[in-house]
Amino acid sequence: MRQIIYSSVQTPELGEGGVFEIIQTSVRNNTAKELRGFLIYSGQSFFQVLEGPDDAVSAVFEAICKDPRHMNIEVLRDQTIQQTHFERWAMQRIALQGGDGWAASLGALEEPVREAGILPFVEEFLESGSAKAA
Ligand SMILES: Cc1cc2nc3c(=O)[nH]c(=O)nc-3n(C[C@H](O)[C@H](O)[C@H](O)COP(=O)(O)O)c2cc1C
Repeated sequence: MRQIIYSSVQTPELGEGGVFEIIQTSVRNNTAKELRGFLIYSGQSFFQVLEGPDDAVSAVFEAICKDPRHMNIEVLRDQTIQQTHFERWAMQRIALQGGDGWAASLGALEEPVREAGILPFVEEFLESGSAKAA
């Protein structure tokens, strides 16, 4: 299994309701392909953890990289994993009002994120996400 973590910045193509569309597509495709993970949307930037079978992760990530609704894709981690940490989430969506959304909106996520060793990446994103898009 492969795990990819990346951040990116939205483009005007995202449009209103764009994030909702992405989540709908993701839940449909990811369920079928046994992909798991979550997507944080800060209002300007994305942070996504994508886990699953190597081929499926590669194919979907290739599509994601070509998607005009975001840019500046920065891979933060790309590694082999033994099992997914997010079995219940075909693509869990987390919207943030601001950096302090961690406590309120990400509460349910904190434990699995900590167990998966992803916490530093999420915290870094929350601290720099809005600055990056400015
Ligand atoms: C930030 C971001 C995250 C995305 N995450 C996923 C994802 O987890 N799974 C997925 O299938 N598509 C995801 N997409 C959408 C893909 O880029 C692409 O539009 C989609 O896979 C095409 O699916 P379709 O051929 O079923 O329409 C994401 C797009 C963006 C901008």
